[in-house]
Amino acid sequence: MGMTQPATGTAPGKVILFGEHAVVYGRPAIAVPLPQLQARVTVKPAESGRGMTLVAQDLDRVVPLHQAREDDPLAAMVRLTLAHLDAAVPDATLTIQSTIPIASGLGSGTAVSTAIVRALAAYLGRELAPQTVSRLVFQVEKLHHGTPSGVDNTVVAYGAPVFFVKGKSPEMFAVGTELHLIIGDSGTASSTRLAVADVRRGWERAPDQYERIFDGIATIVVAARSLIEAGGSMARLGTLMNENHALLVELGVSSTELERLVSAARNASALGAKLSGAGRGGNMVALVKPGHSGHVAEALLGVGAARVVQAVLLPSPKERGS
Ligand code: MEV
Repeated sequence: MGMTQPATGTAPGKVILFGEHAVVYGRPAIAVPLPQLQARVTVKPAESGRGMTLVAQDLDRVVPLHQAREDDPLAAMVRLTLAHLDAAVPDATLTIQSTIPIASGLGSGTAVSTAIVRALAAYLGRELAPQTVSRLVFQVEKLHHGTPSGVDNTVVAYGAPVFFVKGKSPEMFAVGTELHLIIGDSGTASSTRLAVADVRRGWERAPDQYERIFDGIATIVVAARSLIEAGGSMARLGTLMNENHALLVELGVSSTELERLVSAARNASALGAKLSGAGRGGNMVALVKPGHSGHVAEALLGVGAARVVQAVLLPSPKERGS
Protein backbone atom coordinates (compact mmCIF):
# COMPACT_ATOMS: atom_id res chain seq x y z
CA MET A 1 0.00 0.00 0.00
CA GLY A 2 1.71 3.22 -1.18
CA MET A 3 1.29 6.37 0.85
CA THR A 4 -0.51 8.50 -1.68
CA GLN A 5 -0.83 12.17 -0.81
CA PRO A 6 -4.22 13.94 -0.81
CA ALA A 7 -4.81 15.97 -3.96
CA THR A 8 -7.14 18.79 -4.92
CA GLY A 9 -8.62 19.92 -8.21
CA THR A 10 -10.56 23.14 -8.76
CA ALA A 11 -12.56 24.66 -11.61
CA PRO A 12 -14.37 27.99 -12.05
CA GLY A 13 -17.97 28.78 -12.89
CA LYS A 14 -18.70 30.37 -16.23
CA VAL A 15 -21.04 32.79 -17.89
CA ILE A 16 -22.00 32.89 -21.55
CA LEU A 17 -21.83 36.49 -22.76
CA PHE A 18 -23.08 35.94 -26.32
CA GLY A 19 -24.31 33.16 -28.58
CA GLU A 20 -26.02 30.56 -26.37
CA HIS A 21 -28.37 28.18 -28.24
CA ALA A 22 -27.19 29.36 -31.69
CA VAL A 23 -23.86 27.73 -30.72
CA VAL A 24 -25.61 24.33 -30.79
CA TYR A 25 -26.26 25.04 -34.52
CA GLY A 26 -22.66 25.82 -35.45
CA ARG A 27 -22.63 29.56 -34.72
CA PRO A 28 -19.97 31.09 -32.48
CA ALA A 29 -20.39 31.92 -28.79
CA ILE A 30 -18.37 33.90 -26.27
CA ALA A 31 -18.03 32.64 -22.72
CA VAL A 32 -15.86 33.74 -19.81
CA PRO A 33 -14.84 32.00 -16.58
CA LEU A 34 -16.04 33.26 -13.19
CA PRO A 35 -13.13 32.50 -10.86
CA GLN A 36 -14.99 33.81 -7.80
CA LEU A 37 -17.34 30.83 -8.08
CA GLN A 38 -15.55 27.51 -7.72
CA ALA A 39 -15.93 23.79 -7.54
CA ARG A 40 -13.29 22.07 -5.43
CA VAL A 41 -12.68 18.32 -5.28
CA THR A 42 -10.34 16.64 -2.83
CA VAL A 43 -9.16 13.04 -3.04
CA LYS A 44 -7.78 11.49 0.14
CA PRO A 45 -6.45 7.98 0.72
CA ALA A 46 -8.85 5.57 2.46
CA GLU A 47 -8.32 2.20 4.13
CA SER A 48 -6.99 -0.49 1.86
CA GLY A 49 -9.73 -2.55 0.20
CA ARG A 50 -12.35 0.16 0.74
CA GLY A 51 -12.56 1.19 -2.90
CA MET A 52 -13.71 4.66 -3.69
CA THR A 53 -16.38 6.73 -1.93
CA LEU A 54 -17.90 9.89 -3.43
CA VAL A 55 -19.00 12.56 -0.98
CA ALA A 56 -21.07 15.44 -2.38
CA GLN A 57 -21.08 17.73 0.66
CA ASP A 58 -23.60 20.27 -0.55
CA LEU A 59 -26.04 17.60 -1.72
CA ASP A 60 -25.61 15.51 1.42
CA ARG A 61 -24.75 12.47 -0.66
CA VAL A 62 -22.28 9.72 0.20
CA VAL A 63 -22.06 7.02 -2.46
CA PRO A 64 -19.63 4.12 -2.75
CA LEU A 65 -18.49 4.19 -6.38
CA HIS A 66 -19.38 0.53 -6.99
CA GLN A 67 -23.00 1.22 -5.93
CA ALA A 68 -23.44 4.32 -8.09
CA ARG A 69 -25.71 3.99 -11.09
CA GLU A 70 -24.28 3.89 -14.58
CA ASP A 71 -25.80 7.28 -15.41
CA ASP A 72 -24.79 9.01 -12.16
CA PRO A 73 -22.82 11.96 -13.56
CA LEU A 74 -20.32 12.11 -10.68
CA ALA A 75 -19.57 8.39 -10.84
CA ALA A 76 -19.49 8.51 -14.65
CA MET A 77 -16.87 11.27 -14.50
CA VAL A 78 -14.75 9.25 -12.06
CA ARG A 79 -15.00 6.07 -14.15
CA LEU A 80 -14.16 7.86 -17.40
CA THR A 81 -11.16 9.59 -15.87
CA LEU A 82 -9.80 6.37 -14.37
CA ALA A 83 -10.27 4.59 -17.71
CA HIS A 84 -8.48 7.41 -19.53
CA LEU A 85 -5.59 7.25 -17.06
CA ASP A 86 -5.59 3.46 -17.31
CA ALA A 87 -5.79 3.33 -13.51
CA ALA A 88 -7.51 0.91 -11.14
CA VAL A 89 -10.08 2.29 -8.68
CA PRO A 90 -7.98 3.64 -5.80
CA ASP A 91 -8.90 3.22 -2.12
CA ALA A 92 -9.85 6.83 -1.62
CA THR A 93 -12.53 9.31 -0.61
CA LEU A 94 -13.43 11.94 -3.20
CA THR A 95 -15.14 15.00 -1.71
CA ILE A 96 -16.98 17.57 -3.81
CA GLN A 97 -17.65 21.14 -2.70
CA SER A 98 -18.94 23.95 -4.83
CA THR A 99 -19.93 27.59 -4.41
CA ILE A 100 -21.57 27.64 -7.86
CA PRO A 101 -25.39 27.73 -7.75
CA ILE A 102 -26.88 24.54 -9.22
CA ALA A 103 -29.07 24.54 -12.37
CA SER A 104 -28.61 28.24 -12.93
CA GLY A 105 -26.55 28.40 -16.11
CA LEU A 106 -23.30 29.18 -14.30
CA GLY A 107 -21.72 25.85 -15.10
CA SER A 108 -21.92 24.13 -11.74
CA GLY A 109 -22.15 20.59 -13.17
CA THR A 110 -19.39 21.31 -15.66
CA ALA A 111 -17.10 22.75 -13.00
CA VAL A 112 -17.70 19.81 -10.65
CA SER A 113 -16.86 17.38 -13.47
CA THR A 114 -13.72 19.35 -14.35
CA ALA A 115 -12.56 19.49 -10.74
CA ILE A 116 -13.12 15.70 -10.43
CA VAL A 117 -10.91 15.03 -13.48
CA ARG A 118 -8.16 17.34 -12.20
CA ALA A 119 -8.23 16.04 -8.62
CA LEU A 120 -8.10 12.39 -9.71
CA ALA A 121 -5.29 13.03 -12.18
CA ALA A 122 -3.31 14.90 -9.51
CA TYR A 123 -3.95 12.11 -6.99
CA LEU A 124 -2.55 9.59 -9.44
CA GLY A 125 0.44 11.84 -10.14
CA ARG A 126 -0.65 12.73 -13.65
CA GLU A 127 -1.17 16.00 -15.44
CA LEU A 128 -3.74 16.47 -18.18
CA ALA A 129 -3.77 19.22 -20.82
CA PRO A 130 -6.86 21.49 -20.81
CA GLN A 131 -8.02 20.02 -24.10
CA THR A 132 -7.92 16.50 -22.63
CA VAL A 133 -9.80 17.62 -19.52
CA SER A 134 -12.36 19.37 -21.73
CA ARG A 135 -12.83 16.29 -23.91
CA LEU A 136 -13.37 13.98 -20.91
CA VAL A 137 -15.86 16.38 -19.32
CA PHE A 138 -17.73 16.67 -22.63
CA GLN A 139 -18.47 12.93 -22.49
CA VAL A 140 -20.37 13.48 -19.23
CA GLU A 141 -22.00 16.71 -20.46
CA LYS A 142 -23.63 14.57 -23.14
CA LEU A 143 -25.18 12.38 -20.42
CA HIS A 144 -26.58 15.50 -18.69
CA HIS A 145 -27.62 17.63 -21.61
CA GLY A 146 -28.25 15.50 -24.67
CA THR A 147 -26.69 17.54 -27.49
CA PRO A 148 -24.38 20.11 -25.89
CA SER A 149 -22.21 22.32 -28.08
CA GLY A 150 -19.14 21.93 -25.87
CA VAL A 151 -18.82 25.62 -25.01
CA ASP A 152 -19.29 25.05 -21.27
CA ASN A 153 -16.61 22.38 -20.83
CA THR A 154 -14.24 24.40 -23.01
CA VAL A 155 -14.42 27.68 -21.08
CA VAL A 156 -14.26 25.90 -17.73
CA ALA A 157 -11.32 23.65 -18.67
CA TYR A 158 -9.29 26.47 -20.24
CA GLY A 159 -10.27 29.04 -17.58
CA ALA A 160 -10.01 31.91 -20.08
CA PRO A 161 -12.36 33.93 -22.29
CA VAL A 162 -13.19 31.83 -25.31
CA PHE A 163 -14.63 32.34 -28.78
CA PHE A 164 -16.12 28.93 -29.43
CA VAL A 165 -17.42 27.21 -32.55
CA LYS A 166 -18.62 23.61 -32.17
CA GLY A 167 -16.15 21.11 -33.60
CA LYS A 168 -13.34 23.66 -33.98
CA SER A 169 -10.34 24.37 -31.78
CA PRO A 170 -11.43 26.99 -29.26
CA GLU A 171 -9.94 30.46 -29.75
CA MET A 172 -8.79 32.18 -26.58
CA PHE A 173 -8.93 35.89 -27.15
CA ALA A 174 -7.52 38.94 -25.44
CA VAL A 175 -9.71 41.30 -23.45
CA GLY A 176 -8.85 44.92 -24.30
CA THR A 177 -10.56 46.69 -21.42
CA GLU A 178 -12.17 45.96 -18.07
CA LEU A 179 -15.66 44.51 -18.34
CA HIS A 180 -17.89 45.05 -15.32
CA LEU A 181 -20.58 42.39 -15.14
CA ILE A 182 -23.47 41.70 -12.81
CA ILE A 183 -25.07 38.31 -12.90
CA GLY A 184 -28.57 37.96 -11.50
CA ASP A 185 -30.11 34.62 -10.61
CA SER A 186 -33.84 34.42 -11.39
CA GLY A 187 -34.20 31.81 -8.65
CA THR A 188 -35.94 29.44 -11.07
CA ALA A 189 -34.05 26.32 -12.12
CA SER A 190 -32.91 26.15 -15.73
CA SER A 191 -32.81 22.81 -17.51
CA THR A 192 -30.34 22.95 -20.38
CA ARG A 193 -31.69 19.66 -21.71
CA LEU A 194 -35.30 20.92 -21.88
CA ALA A 195 -34.48 24.37 -23.25
CA VAL A 196 -32.21 22.93 -25.95
CA ALA A 197 -34.85 20.32 -26.87
CA ASP A 198 -37.55 23.02 -27.17
CA VAL A 199 -35.38 25.14 -29.45
CA ARG A 200 -34.79 22.04 -31.56
CA ARG A 201 -38.53 21.46 -31.91
CA GLY A 202 -38.98 25.09 -32.97
CA TRP A 203 -36.16 24.76 -35.49
CA GLU A 204 -37.71 21.58 -36.91
CA ARG A 205 -41.06 23.37 -37.28
CA ALA A 206 -39.70 26.59 -38.81
CA PRO A 207 -36.12 25.98 -39.96
CA ASP A 208 -35.80 29.14 -42.10
CA GLN A 209 -36.98 31.41 -39.33
CA TYR A 210 -34.68 29.78 -36.76
CA GLU A 211 -31.67 29.79 -39.08
CA ARG A 212 -32.23 33.54 -39.61
CA ILE A 213 -32.28 34.10 -35.85
CA PHE A 214 -29.10 32.03 -35.43
CA ASP A 215 -27.41 34.05 -38.21
CA GLY A 216 -28.45 37.26 -36.46
CA ILE A 217 -26.90 35.99 -33.23
CA ALA A 218 -23.70 34.98 -35.07
CA THR A 219 -23.29 38.52 -36.45
CA ILE A 220 -23.68 39.93 -32.92
CA VAL A 221 -21.10 37.48 -31.50
CA VAL A 222 -18.48 38.39 -34.10
CA ALA A 223 -19.03 42.12 -33.53
CA ALA A 224 -18.86 41.62 -29.75
CA ARG A 225 -15.55 39.79 -29.99
CA SER A 226 -14.00 42.65 -31.99
CA LEU A 227 -15.25 45.20 -29.48
CA ILE A 228 -14.00 43.25 -26.47
CA GLU A 229 -10.59 42.63 -28.06
CA ALA A 230 -10.18 46.24 -29.12
CA GLY A 231 -11.46 47.59 -25.80
CA GLY A 232 -14.06 49.48 -27.83
CA SER A 233 -17.26 51.23 -26.78
CA MET A 234 -18.90 49.54 -23.81
CA ALA A 235 -22.16 51.28 -24.67
CA ARG A 236 -22.06 49.53 -28.05
CA LEU A 237 -21.24 46.20 -26.38
CA GLY A 238 -24.26 46.70 -24.11
CA THR A 239 -26.45 47.32 -27.14
CA LEU A 240 -25.20 44.07 -28.65
CA MET A 241 -26.23 42.27 -25.45
CA ASN A 242 -29.71 43.77 -25.72
CA GLU A 243 -29.94 42.68 -29.36
CA ASN A 244 -28.78 39.16 -28.51
CA HIS A 245 -31.39 39.02 -25.75
CA ALA A 246 -34.16 40.06 -28.17
CA LEU A 247 -33.23 37.13 -30.44
CA LEU A 248 -33.23 34.73 -27.47
CA VAL A 249 -36.73 35.97 -26.64
CA GLU A 250 -37.71 35.11 -30.23
CA LEU A 251 -36.30 31.63 -29.67
CA GLY A 252 -38.68 31.34 -26.72
CA VAL A 253 -36.10 30.76 -24.01
CA SER A 254 -36.77 33.76 -21.77
CA SER A 255 -39.21 33.80 -18.85
CA THR A 256 -41.23 36.32 -16.85
CA GLU A 257 -38.59 36.33 -14.11
CA LEU A 258 -35.72 36.80 -16.55
CA GLU A 259 -37.56 39.65 -18.30
CA ARG A 260 -38.12 41.34 -14.95
CA LEU A 261 -34.41 41.17 -14.10
CA VAL A 262 -33.24 42.26 -17.56
CA SER A 263 -35.58 45.31 -17.48
CA ALA A 264 -34.59 46.21 -13.93
CA ALA A 265 -30.88 46.12 -14.85
CA ARG A 266 -31.42 48.33 -17.89
CA ASN A 267 -33.58 50.80 -15.93
CA ALA A 268 -30.87 50.97 -13.26
CA SER A 269 -28.27 52.22 -15.78
CA ALA A 270 -26.83 48.93 -17.10
CA LEU A 271 -25.34 49.39 -20.57
CA GLY A 272 -27.02 46.18 -21.67
CA ALA A 273 -28.54 42.99 -20.27
CA LYS A 274 -29.48 39.56 -21.52
CA LEU A 275 -30.34 36.11 -20.28
CA SER A 276 -27.32 33.84 -20.09
CA GLY A 277 -27.08 30.11 -20.67
CA ALA A 278 -30.01 27.88 -21.52
CA GLY A 279 -32.67 30.27 -20.17
CA ARG A 280 -36.29 29.67 -19.04
CA GLY A 281 -34.81 30.26 -15.63
CA GLY A 282 -31.28 30.51 -14.39
CA ASN A 283 -29.30 33.68 -14.85
CA MET A 284 -29.09 36.94 -16.69
CA VAL A 285 -25.99 39.06 -17.13
CA ALA A 286 -25.70 42.83 -17.32
CA LEU A 287 -22.81 45.00 -18.47
CA VAL A 288 -22.41 48.04 -16.23
CA LYS A 289 -20.28 51.18 -16.12
CA PRO A 290 -17.47 51.07 -13.58
CA GLY A 291 -18.84 52.23 -10.23
CA HIS A 292 -22.44 51.25 -11.10
CA SER A 293 -22.26 47.63 -9.97
CA GLY A 294 -23.74 48.21 -6.53
CA HIS A 295 -26.65 50.20 -7.91
CA VAL A 296 -27.54 47.57 -10.53
CA ALA A 297 -27.08 44.73 -8.03
CA GLU A 298 -29.52 46.44 -5.63
CA ALA A 299 -32.05 46.94 -8.41
CA LEU A 300 -31.87 43.22 -9.27
CA LEU A 301 -32.32 42.17 -5.66
CA GLY A 302 -35.17 44.70 -5.42
CA VAL A 303 -37.15 42.88 -8.13
CA GLY A 304 -36.54 39.45 -6.64
CA ALA A 305 -33.17 38.15 -7.84
CA ALA A 306 -32.28 35.15 -5.67
CA ARG A 307 -28.66 36.28 -5.71
CA VAL A 308 -26.30 38.51 -7.61
CA VAL A 309 -22.67 37.93 -8.48
CA GLN A 310 -20.39 40.80 -9.45
CA ALA A 311 -17.53 40.02 -11.80
CA VAL A 312 -14.82 42.14 -13.36
CA LEU A 313 -13.05 40.80 -16.40
CA LEU A 314 -9.57 42.26 -16.45
CA PRO A 315 -7.70 43.21 -19.62
CA SER A 316 -5.26 40.55 -20.85
CA PRO A 317 -1.56 41.33 -20.47
CA LYS A 318 -0.41 43.06 -23.67
CA GLU A 319 2.46 40.70 -24.61
CA ARG A 320 0.20 37.67 -24.71
CA GLY A 321 -2.76 38.15 -26.98
CA SER A 322 -3.69 35.21 -29.23
C1 MEV B 1 -25.79 26.23 -22.05
O1 MEV B 1 -24.90 26.75 -21.07
C2 MEV B 1 -25.51 26.81 -23.39
C3 MEV B 1 -26.42 26.32 -24.51
O2 MEV B 1 -26.00 27.00 -25.68
C4 MEV B 1 -26.30 24.83 -24.71
C5 MEV B 1 -24.95 24.39 -25.27
O3 MEV B 1 -24.20 25.20 -25.79
O4 MEV B 1 -24.68 23.19 -25.20
C6 MEV B 1 -27.88 26.67 -24.27
